[in-house]
Amino acid sequence: MKGVVFREFLDHAEAVFGVALVDQVLETADLPSGGAYTSVGYYDHEEMLALVGRTSELTGKSVRDLLVGFGSTLFRSLIESHAQKGVSHPFDLLERIHGVIHRDVRKLYPDAEVPEIIVVERVGEGRIVVEYRSARPMADLCEGMIKATFAYYGKDGDYDIIRLDNDCAPLREARFDITIGADTD
Ligand code: HEM
Repeated sequence: MKGVVFREFLDHAEAVFGVALVDQVLETADLPSGGAYTSVGYYDHEEMLALVGRTSELTGKSVRDLLVGFGSTLFRSLIESHAQKGVSHPFDLLERIHGVIHRDVRKLYPDAEVPEIIVVERVGEGRIVVEYRSARPMADLCEGMIKATFAYYGKDGDYDIIRLDNDCAPLREARFDITIGADTD
């Protein structure tokens, strides 16, 4: 996983829980890299899960809540650094991830590890069904990123999550059945 994702997680945790907590996480998480993440480096995703796991132990927040919350920050950062011209609806963005956005990421950074995010059904501007599959168990992060698309485009959205794997925690494969309501403004 790209080092920039690790850096984003640490910045997010610092903003939410403070620098002292992040220092404690880094000192006690027993990380192979030692926690010195450079934006251009790549690190084992297990290390990200170790960071989140230690943050969970020290704060009492669940791993799921931490990943969903981080998804929101990560989405903002990614969309701000890779503006998607002409996209004004969350569903149009979700439809672009597999064939355009993550495909370009793989072209630019051959070592990047992006998940498969496939639209299986779209019903106009009101409902879309998306499936997440990854070698990494980060469906909760995906959930946070999906939620963030609603706010970003000023929509009210809701979703059901259907597990596609058996008893895998954290979740590695999931279907999101998403509905969008009226504009929030
Ligand atoms: C402008 C929009 C986006 C850009 C530029 C982008 C780019 C990236 C990049 C660079 C990574 C890290 C790859 C690595 O660590 O090797 C990543 C991972 C990821 N992306 Fe995207 N992404 C975008 C939007 C989205 C959206 C909207 C979702 C969810 C609906 C999403 C879901 C994920 C997830 C869950 C991961 C973590 C890796 C995994 O689960 O296997 N991305 N993306």
